[in-house]
Amino acid sequence: MTEPGKPRRLVGTKAVVLIAVLSAVATASITALLVNIMERKQEALNPFYRVVELNDTITDPAVWGKNFPLQYDDYKRTVDQQRTRYGGSEALARTPTQADPRSVVAQSRLEEDPRLKTMWAGYAFATDFREERGHAHMLEDQTFTERQHVTAQPGTCIHCHGSVYVPYKKLGDGDLIKGFEKMNVMPFAEARKLVEHPVSCIDCHDPTNMQLRVTRPGFIEGIAALKASQGVQNFRVNQDATRQEMRTYVCGQCHVEYYFKGKEKRLTYPWAKGITIEQIMAYYDEDGHTDWTHKLSGAKVLKAQHPEFEMYNQGIHARSGVACADCHMPYKREGAMKVSDHHVRSPLLNINRACQTCHKWSEAELLDRAQTIQTRTFQTRNIAMDALVDLIHDIEAGQKAGLPEDTLAKARGLQRRAQFYLDFVEAENSMGFHADQEAVRILSNSINFSRLGQNALRPGDASTAPSERPAGAPAPVTPQGAH
Ligand code: HEC
Ligand code: HEC
Ligand code: HEC
Ligand code: HEC
Ligand code: HEC
Repeated sequence: MTEPGKPRRLVGTKAVVLIAVLSAVATASITALLVNIMERKQEALNPFYRVVELNDTITDPAVWGKNFPLQYDDYKRTVDQQRTRYGGSEALARTPTQADPRSVVAQSRLEEDPRLKTMWAGYAFATDFREERGHAHMLEDQTFTERQHVTAQPGTCIHCHGSVYVPYKKLGDGDLIKGFEKMNVMPFAEARKLVEHPVSCIDCHDPTNMQLRVTRPGFIEGIAALKASQGVQNFRVNQDATRQEMRTYVCGQCHVEYYFKGKEKRLTYPWAKGITIEQIMAYYDEDGHTDWTHKLSGAKVLKAQHPEFEMYNQGIHARSGVACADCHMPYKREGAMKVSDHHVRSPLLNINRACQTCHKWSEAELLDRAQTIQTRTFQTRNIAMDALVDLIHDIEAGQKAGLPEDTLAKARGLQRRAQFYLDFVEAENSMGFHADQEAVRILSNSINFSRLGQNALRPGDASTAPSERPAGAPAPVTPQGAH
């Protein structure tokens, strides 16, 4: 009777052993899995191993890179040069000299379009102006541009071309703004000795918690002035901005229009009336600021410089809450970690991560949409450039013919506007992509100013007289101060 029990017991024993083994294996693997998940969560929570203790005096990115090797590896790749149809940059070999040791530079924009020399006649930009390239080159390109030889540049320049946070604080005995003021008035060569690295980790990050921060006085003051113009008083960017805003503001520290104010050469972002082209123009007119007197026409003119932040703010992506970092530093996965790509570059070299996180279109379609915007902008820019060159030559001829001073003054006032509007799009580095309709709107105004300027030189000019317009047509933009 027990017989049947025996095999049963045997089966039972085997089963128990099997179950025990199986469950041991399962437990072990579940434990392993849990440990793994916890480690990963830990990684994501505290995504670095503290190899070095960082503090607010370490400028060298290699030291930060010990704690954050992934970000540092990408950051170093900003030495790369790769061309896109309208952006990126192309590496040109050159023979190093004592005065300029660079063996590779970016291509010359003046050679690409000689009309730029006419636009900037009499100004340093007419001697050397190149396509911009990656962040790794910012300090050497500024140090060795030929623009350094035709004008004595101030220490202010370095604000956007080097890691100035620690040098400013040292100069100001702990006071960032005081140090900024001191460096601004130094000759460039003297200030240059105080700076060692291009933009570095410390310029965008708080070393204690890696949160984003703005360290550039130009932006701290500029954004406060802009917010005040919108009714927000005493805006303190590092306390009051949202995280998503900071993902744009860290770039807005440098990618903006600027000028050196007064004999203190204080770096100033002309935003106290707002950041549209009309508001910036009105600011300069009220301030009476002029960058130089045009060599061919005698007009008091302005140079626009990389207004990426201003232009982006007029576009559909800013309107939709998309930040500079979303396209220029998109996330990528490394294990369980989401890492921001610190290889800051043209998003058109990285469409998959830069655009397809939000857009379902194919890479080819996205590239085509972006380039369609850029080609339209480029064509309109060329029309505006021709119109401006026509106006400059007409003023030259008018001077030779001895036209009355008030006639010339009116045409020169229109040149000032035509030129600044055109340069605002020309100097903006996305060829219209950041705000496509705004770019073309600005260019169409520029063309109008140039042609109105030519008309102003004709005998009996009445081109802006309302009676000449068809009934009901809106008045043309009347340029302030254009007389
Ligand atoms: C929606 C995506 C997007 C956003 C947001 C964006 N950009 Fe761009 N940006 C582009 C594209 C596309 C180009 C064109 C690149 C090209 O032609 O190769 C570009 C071009 C540039 C360039 C020139 C790059 C080159 O290789 O020539 C700079 C500099 C730049 N952007 C800075 C900024 C800054 C600063 C911000 C925020 C204020 C910003 N961008 C916001 C997509 C974006
Ligand atoms: C407000 C920030 C800022 C200041 C101040 C500034 N730059 Fe730049 N600079 C930039 C940015 C952003 C770029 C890249 C975009 C571009 O080239 O349009 C750049 C590009 C350059 C380049 C490379 C492209 C070219 O123009 O050939 C040179 C050289 C340069 N700057 C020199 C200077 C000099 C000299 C000064 C002082 C007179 C100066 N910069 C002041 C932000 C600044
Ligand atoms: C400290 C000032 C500074 C800051 C901050 C800064 N840039 Fe730049 N950026 C420059 C300068 C200067 C250059 C041009 C360097 C050169 O031509 O040698 C440049 C070049 C670029 C380029 C052209 C790269 C290429 O390969 O052609 C892009 C794109 C760009 N910056 C985007 C950004 C974005 C996005 C941010 C914010 C995450 C940012 N920059 C923050 C000063 C700055
Ligand atoms: C021009 C500004 C800028 C510079 C310079 C910069 N970063 Fe960042 N960094 C960013 C932005 C923007 C983010 C995204 C932050 C966010 O979304 O809150 C970021 C994020 C990070 C993060 C958080 C994890 C991640 O990848 O999103 C780490 C860590 C980091 N950076 C390390 C570094 C290190 C190390 C350096 C120097 C080698 C450096 N950064 C230089 C702008 C910068
Ligand atoms: C974080 C999300 C996000 C990213 C990243 C992004 N876009 Fe967009 N894009 C939008 C939104 C939102 C709109 C507005 C239209 C809409 O709501 O669908 C838009 C609109 C556009 C438009 C229409 C523009 C117009 O003027 O009507 C184009 C073209 C475009 N994006 C191309 C790109 C390209 C190219 C990239 C990469 C360089 C990119 N986008 C990256 C969210 C994004």
